Amino acid sequence: MLKSNEFHQHNRHKLLASLPDNSAVLVSSGAEKIRNRDVEFPFRAESDFFYLTGFTEPDCVLVLLKKESRVTHLFLRPKDPEQETWQGRRLGLENACEALSVDQAWSIDELDEGLLELLENIESVYFSFSQISDWLTPVSAWIDGLKQKGRQGISAPSKICDLDGVLHEQRLFKSAEEISRMRQAAQISVKGHLAAMAAALPGKFEFQVQAELEATFVREGSPRVAFSSIIASGHNACILHYTENRDEIQDGDLVLVDAGAEWQGYAGDITTTFPANGKFSSAQAKLYSLVLKAQQAAISVIQPGVAYNVAHEASVKVLTQGLIDLGILKGKLKTLIKEESYKRFFMHGIGHWLGMDVHDVGAYKQNQAWREFKPGMVVTVEPGLYISAEHSDVDSQWHNTGIRIEDDILVTEIGHEILTVGLPRTVAEIEAQMSAFTALR
Ligand code: GLY
Ligand code: MN
Repeated sequence: MLKSNEFHQHNRHKLLASLPDNSAVLVSSGAEKIRNRDVEFPFRAESDFFYLTGFTEPDCVLVLLKKESRVTHLFLRPKDPEQETWQGRRLGLENACEALSVDQAWSIDELDEGLLELLENIESVYFSFSQISDWLTPVSAWIDGLKQKGRQGISAPSKICDLDGVLHEQRLFKSAEEISRMRQAAQISVKGHLAAMAAALPGKFEFQVQAELEATFVREGSPRVAFSSIIASGHNACILHYTENRDEIQDGDLVLVDAGAEWQGYAGDITTTFPANGKFSSAQAKLYSLVLKAQQAAISVIQPGVAYNVAHEASVKVLTQGLIDLGILKGKLKTLIKEESYKRFFMHGIGHWLGMDVHDVGAYKQNQAWREFKPGMVVTVEPGLYISAEHSDVDSQWHNTGIRIEDDILVTEIGHEILTVGLPRTVAEIEAQMSAFTALR
């Protein structure tokens, strides 16, 4: 396994190798944000910045130069004993070069004068167009300043380019180091989900399940959740991104838990759905088994050379046929799929890229066509069915049922690997697991 610095250095080299000569890359760590009055949200560095540096402090700018040689500059907060006494340690300029394997460290207060120097004779400046409103003003000022040096024979950049396309394409393909981090994120997430299953009982509150889930993540060394945990009981599970987690779990409820741990910058993302009282009702078991069949159908097609939408279509076919068989949809399979009738009950896509961001970067289409899976991609597969009481034309036995089953899948040279193995998935496995938890109480 690579040492952390080597990993981030390798990421920088790979990025620069794909850019033209006389390019500069600007990447910001992001800044702390106020939550209310003088309380800040916990800071988490921007993923692009962490990927290229391994550094976790706010108020930094990474500048990569590709000229005759390749040079890494980092602008960061200088040491400040008083601030550090209150707010926490800073790495400081003195330690940055050795600690992060960068060539030159500058104070973030020197950003303007530093960039006026570093962008001399650079042709193309790359920054994230997702942050274009943050970059345009300072970059224009630096270009203005450099144009004024024209009579000294210094040229200003003539091209502003989007970094997202090139860097995010790189991030889409996970290296061995990233896969090892993602395996760990997935396995910590599995442990958290098992703890959630053990904690979920009728009479408990959703937040109590959240507490056990997230305590497990923390105990396993995860510094934070990869996204806000969803603990949705009963009808709450029909809200796709329900994060209030305040309700009391009722006897007969299914509990949908969609949560993942972060590990060394990488996300896990798992959804489990299980009966709080340990036994699926007959209607719940039928819908659950259908979603599981749809998930298995989607996972089974994932291999290099298969287009992304094939997995979605595989699950749509199973779900639609299942809904016909259960009498929830009426009509012919082909017509119902063409008319997208299933969307009333399955209104999201099959999944998303997974990596440093839970909804990770990388294009889903190239030249307007769904792209093919390739080794190193990681994708979630998470079909669901959501039937609320508002579906008044549907028999009430199916109402207030939200089911989603989600795993994290690595595309390998020969097929795929499920990173999130270790969870009970079938109705029988879940009921056996819930019964084992009851016996332990
Ligand atoms: N697990 C959260 C999501 O995929 O939206
Ligand atoms: Mn997901």
